[in-house]
Amino acid sequence: MTTDLLSPFKLNDSIELQNRVLMAPLTRCMSDDNLVPTQAMVDYYARRADAGLIISEATIIRPDSQGYPNTPGLFTSEQIQGWKKVTDAVHEKGGKMFAQLWHVGRVAHPHFFGGDVLAPSAIGVEGSVPRMRELTYVTPKAATIEDIQGLIADYAKAAENAIEAGFDGVEIHGANGYLIDQFLHFAANQREDQYGQTPENMSRFALEVVDAVVAVIGADKTALRLSPGAYFNMTESDGDKAVFDYLLPALETRNLAYLHVGIFDDSMRFASLGDKSASEYMRGAYKGTLVGVGSYSFESANQAIDNNQFDLIAIGRPFIANPDYISKVKNGETLTPYSDEMLAELI
Ligand code: FNR
Repeated sequence: MTTDLLSPFKLNDSIELQNRVLMAPLTRCMSDDNLVPTQAMVDYYARRADAGLIISEATIIRPDSQGYPNTPGLFTSEQIQGWKKVTDAVHEKGGKMFAQLWHVGRVAHPHFFGGDVLAPSAIGVEGSVPRMRELTYVTPKAATIEDIQGLIADYAKAAENAIEAGFDGVEIHGANGYLIDQFLHFAANQREDQYGQTPENMSRFALEVVDAVVAVIGADKTALRLSPGAYFNMTESDGDKAVFDYLLPALETRNLAYLHVGIFDDSMRFASLGDKSASEYMRGAYKGTLVGVGSYSFESANQAIDNNQFDLIAIGRPFIANPDYISKVKNGETLTPYSDEMLAELI
């Protein structure tokens, strides 16, 4: 039987989505200089309210989380009020929206906040900040236990702020080589304390963040994005799979709203995951609701869900090019192809 991606899907007892097509989190670097969402962002998200769930662009939890210009925040009252306008507009049009909570860890840049760059270990990345190439990455400071406790508390505070801002829940950004992902991979985590060396220790930060967020807003409103295969600002190590083999069953017991694959192209296979794709590996190790993503068309996503590869699909670049993505696929209309030049403007 063919799954109808455009029919409703119950995430849990409190959240029902109008369809199975999510708008993927998409950083646009368009907030104002106080990292407050603008009216153009209100209109941009409202135009996409017919998605099953909009996941906001990654939103920083505190100043030292920032690694790109004009990425929005959720730590000042002005930012909370700015996001309230976005969520009100989305809700008015019948949509639902989660905030993606972000700390970039070692790819933060002091240019934005003027302090230490925190990471699991003092291992930097090569290169410079996208869109601001004159800013070369610095060697981070290995977070102390006190730093780690502060970070966990600030994820929980940002989740509380997200609910105050009217979001229906949060997706913790644990993917794509950022802070939480840095704890989960040997290439970035060489700690010798209770946060390093073994799968249980390396999973500890991710689980403590999840538990702190769940304690404040509830598991039904909490989701997590993960990249078990290292592919962005991170390199693969043989031991990575053992970390995720420990983490995924532990997450299953938390009854989260969903788990989301973090990848650009889900046809990519990882030697460190036993030559599997990220979604294939995650489906095998996790029994809860899984959101797939990564270069899928509506048709190929439908096929993948029919094949039980995941339960919901997130669509990224096609949603940048087509604010009316849902109505176009519903009516069988041709989609406008995405191109990188489209990032210059919020349509
Ligand atoms: C992204 N992606 C991304 N992922 C994330 O977790 N948080 C983010 O803020 C962003 N920002 C972002 C910006 C832009 C311009 C692109 C193209 C991508 C990744 C995104 O959510 C998705 O995983 C990929 O785009 C793959 O899906 P599509 O585009 O092939 O449907």
